[in-house]
This record gives sequence, C-alpha cells and structure tokens, in this order.
Amino acid sequence: MFIIRTLNVAHRGASSLAPENTIASFDRAVEIGADGIEFDVQLSKDSVPVVIHDETLERTTSGRGPVKDCTLFELKKLDAGSWFDSRFEGEKIPVLDEVLDRYKADNLLFNIELKNSETAYPGLEEAVLKLIEKHKFEGRVIISSFNHDSLVTCRKHNPAIRTGLIYDQEIKEPWHYARSLGCYSVHPLFFFLQSEETISEFKSHNLPLFPWIVNDPYQMEFFVSQDIEAIITDYPRELKKIIAGSREK
Ligand code: G3P
Ligand code: MG
Repeated sequence: MFIIRTLNVAHRGASSLAPENTIASFDRAVEIGADGIEFDVQLSKDSVPVVIHDETLERTTSGRGPVKDCTLFELKKLDAGSWFDSRFEGEKIPVLDEVLDRYKADNLLFNIELKNSETAYPGLEEAVLKLIEKHKFEGRVIISSFNHDSLVTCRKHNPAIRTGLIYDQEIKEPWHYARSLGCYSVHPLFFFLQSEETISEFKSHNLPLFPWIVNDPYQMEFFVSQDIEAIITDYPRELKKIIAGSREK
C-alpha cells in the first residue's frame, strides 16, 4: 500500500483565515488539524524572541518603525489583528515562549524561522535555543532561516537541534550544500521543486523537503503525490482535504 505521510504545515499559522503569526492563526491551524506551524522570530530591543514576519511594524500592527527598536513592553501594546479584519482587534504579537507553552499538549511540529538575514540580531540563536531547551522541544522543532550561517551557529550551540535550509534563489546541487551545513531538511521556494528528478535527488540524500508557499491545489496534489515530507501553506484546511483524498485512493 502507498502510504502518504506528507505533513501539513501552516505558514505563519492558518494565515488565510486569521492574522499571520498570531495566537489566533496558530489556534486556527490546530483546530483544522495541521501537523505543524511555521512562524518567524526576531528579537525585541530587550532581546526577547518575538513572533513577527516583517522587520518593521507597519504592515501587520498598529506600530511604526523597526521591531528591533521596541522593547517587549512596547510591542505588547500594539494591535496585530485589526489590519487583517476588525474581528481580530486586540490580537498581540506573541513571544516565542508563549507559543511553545500554549501548544505543548498538541504534538505540533514547530518550524521556527529565524528572520535574521536583513537585521543581524546578535544572540537570536542562543535566545531561541534556550527556550527550546527550557520546553524540552528539541524533537519537535526545526529551526530554518535564509541566513545559512545562523543555521550552522545553532548546531554549534546544540548539535541535537534540527535545521532547515531556506532558499529562494537557484543553488547548484543544493543537497550537497545542505549536507555541508549539517541541515536536517531543505525548504525551497516551491518553484525550485518542480521536477521529479530533483525530488528524487533530495530523497536519495535523505533530506526531507518542506517547500513553501504552496497555495495552489494542483501544486499541493503534485507534492502529495511525490510523498514529500511536508508542505508549507497558507491554506491548511484545503491541504488537509487533498491529503485525506490521497489516502483514500
Ligand atoms: O519558512 C518558509 C517561508 O516562511 C519563508 O518565507 O517570507 O514567508 O518567511 P517568508
Ligand atoms: Mg517564514
């Protein structure tokens, strides 16, 4: 029997249904039955890991300016929900600690993306690892980043941690590159994963694939049919149906 095991990973939570990177979007992902959540982490001015995508506050909060210039106290005063829909007024920027704590019973995979390719955030790796270790979540976390040096740093600090190589530009023989960095998984922009040969090459190097952002149903079906490890999507509800449909075939 053909066993489908593709994991449904909600990108910034169920971000098609609730404001991205908020407790509302993560709760929605859990209700839908996603297997994991992907979210983005930066540091506040007082070095607390906070969950937000952009380096600046304007697009998704009521604040202004860079995230790195605000203390946690200042960030927590902001509204991170109204921009999406007034129903979400009062949603806050979560801290990493509360996200890990809130879903401890849910057996969720946490794909923590370090957003440190534009802003350096010295100490981000150590601060994130400390929280993962505090919750004993090494087995439930994959740390990914566009900043590939940062992935190496994470594994230097904690060799038990799994890291995922994110990329959105062509890399020659990415399987060799990922292995050289000690990565567990590879997280390409879905566009770079269109041929069965490429997928087979990753499989033969034992590198689980986590393409993003897979929102098109035909793309979802293709990746599910290839039995890849995980799909990162804004539409976990739709992906859930496609995965369930494949199991029935
Ligand atoms: O982790 C994959 C994906 O989230 C990378 O892009 O900009 O959505 O964080 P972005
Ligand atoms: Mg991300």
